[in-house]
Amino acid sequence: MARRKKVYEGKAKILFEGPEPGTLVQYFKDDETSGAVAQISAAVEGKGVLNNRLSEFFMTGLNAIGVPTHFIRRLNMREQLVRMVEIIPLEVVVRNFAAGDISSRLGIPEGTPLPRPIVEYYFKDDKLGSPLVSEEHIVAFGWANQQDLDDIIALALRVNDFLSGVMLGVGVRLADFRIEVGRVWEGDFMRLILADEISPDSMRLWDLRVIERADGTQADPGPMADVHSELARRLGVLPSNVTHPVKASLIN
Ligand SMILES: Nc1ncnc2c1ncn2[C@@H]1O[C@H](COP(=O)(O)OP(=O)(O)OP(=O)(O)O)[C@@H](O)[C@H]1O
Ligand SMILES: [Mg+2]
Repeated sequence: MARRKKVYEGKAKILFEGPEPGTLVQYFKDDETSGAVAQISAAVEGKGVLNNRLSEFFMTGLNAIGVPTHFIRRLNMREQLVRMVEIIPLEVVVRNFAAGDISSRLGIPEGTPLPRPIVEYYFKDDKLGSPLVSEEHIVAFGWANQQDLDDIIALALRVNDFLSGVMLGVGVRLADFRIEVGRVWEGDFMRLILADEISPDSMRLWDLRVIERADGTQADPGPMADVHSELARRLGVLPSNVTHPVKASLIN
């Protein structure tokens, strides 16, 4: 059998040609990631296995409530089959609590609840450090039109409500996250669907199961330790009766 063709290799994933036209295989690596809301700065053993499972979990849930995603099915521990899309060159970020970029840029203390979810766009270009752009830039440079942007905001806010609720159910605060959106064509019609991945690499998560201080008060929610395996464990994405979820997950 001929070796399958590699379409693209990024920092976190490798894309291969899929078995049918219009499909791709996404292979999840353990390498580090980067971007507007990334928390992870080093390779974590088994991270790709967990992100494959977690992205499957979130995208399956989103599909079930009618949010269109590229996810078709998981193939094995590191790979999933997805619909090929034409990626819109934006990182779409949704923020619920101030942190990172918005805190430093606007001087809002980290952890401040925002008056409503704020959707931001960053131009997807590593060399430029993915700069913040406005709708004006996006429309003027033809990356998307006004209708696309309305659809992207609606999609992003639905993803936000779903993810925020799922996270809250397991004692986690979704401070912010980023998604990528792509175009698919059905006959003459174009649709925008969720692509790439939804994983701890693209979310800022704070643990609400915080330690009580000696004086009885609660510490502020902070970044989750060991976020990939801890989140997978809480969501029941991996069997709970294993002492080291990352390693155990490599078996099945
Ligand atoms: N369904 C899809 N169809 C086509 N391309 C996709 C799809 N889903 C994700 N991609 C693209 O595949 C690549 C995934 O690789 P990875 O996340 O490792 O990239 P990266 O190193 O983060 O770099 P960048 O995202 O800046 O290209 C991204 O470029 C992403 O935009
Ligand atoms: Mg990426």
